[in-house]
Amino acid sequence: MDKPIPVLDLGPELADIWDEVSAVSSRVLRSGYFVGGPEVAGFENEAAAYLGAEHAVALNSGTDALVIGLRALGVERGDEVITSPFTFFASPESIGIVGAREVFADVDLDSFNMDPERVEEAITDRTRALMPVHLFGRPANMDAMMDIASRHGLLVIEDSAQSFGSRLGPDSRYTGRQTGSVGSAGAFSFYPTKNLGGFGDGGLLVTNDGGVADRARRLRDHGSARRYENETLGYNSRLDALQAALLRIKLPRLDANNDRRRAAAARYNDLFAEIEGVVTPDVVPGHVFHQYTIRVTGGRRDAVQAALGQASIGSMIYYPIPCHRLPVYAERGISMPVTELLADEVLSLPLWPAIEEAAQERVRDVIASALR
Ligand SMILES: Cc1ncc(COP(=O)(O)O)c(C=O)c1O
Repeated sequence: MDKPIPVLDLGPELADIWDEVSAVSSRVLRSGYFVGGPEVAGFENEAAAYLGAEHAVALNSGTDALVIGLRALGVERGDEVITSPFTFFASPESIGIVGAREVFADVDLDSFNMDPERVEEAITDRTRALMPVHLFGRPANMDAMMDIASRHGLLVIEDSAQSFGSRLGPDSRYTGRQTGSVGSAGAFSFYPTKNLGGFGDGGLLVTNDGGVADRARRLRDHGSARRYENETLGYNSRLDALQAALLRIKLPRLDANNDRRRAAAARYNDLFAEIEGVVTPDVVPGHVFHQYTIRVTGGRRDAVQAALGQASIGSMIYYPIPCHRLPVYAERGISMPVTELLADEVLSLPLWPAIEEAAQERVRDVIASALR
């Protein structure tokens, strides 16, 4: 019986940094700073420098980064924000939480990211912002998003929860810039499975606008710049010192780990080259493969997933229900054909920086025989 292959193995990365993790944890736990403090400020500075953004505001989660980002940008009741229907619920959820209306624009079949033409069609006189999602670590078409935004006078909040470390490629006028740093603000998640994963929940908002950063700092601390002088309704969304300190260990290693993810994705693509019925993702520059997601065509995705399960190989369907079909929005009765097709065909396969070629070959063998 072959060893099971999980869909994600955080073990090897943790083993590499374990000594530092335990030394830093004891230091922080003895320091008496548990929420905010110098570790958080240090992490904010390092993250801002890495991302090429002027301001970074550490928060409790990626969801909070979207909610607080939208509010700090001034998005409010009556506004419409256009986002992808092929994303994690937190993207549209954050829009609804601030009282605005989430408007969906269908995605492009190859990139899984919002199709600029569909975005244009979704614009009304109430549209206030675009929320492109860099899904699975592949940069969205930021040139098109920024052009549309500038033509219609819109804000852009990037959902970069899955794309820490992803830079825009040579086909973009923002080449070399980090996703999340191009629009009016960018939101990141440190949920443990993310490319820059913490040891609990965490998030970050980045922006080049000092006013937005200032408002986000107030909102994360009960709407106050000074203790007990609350100016507006806010949140308790501060990052723990321990999370910040542990993320500071991981940040300098991120580029190397993202390169390894990209190399593993390219290897999968080679392995799947001859298999009919599998559509592989393009290894475009800047893609950091938060997920390696294939399409299985011909209605055979569930059979392939079952075969993987039989062989003790993990796989996931991100996302089985398109956002616009979730119970919370279902009454709108809208149709987004590309997203609906993807929901039936996508399958995310085991991927982490240290995945071995032999494991990838086994994944290929099982899929090949299920499709034979
Ligand atoms: C695309 C996307 N947006 C937002 C979030 C929310 O991040 P968090 O889980 O840190 O709140 C996630 C996390 O799963 C995500 O994948």
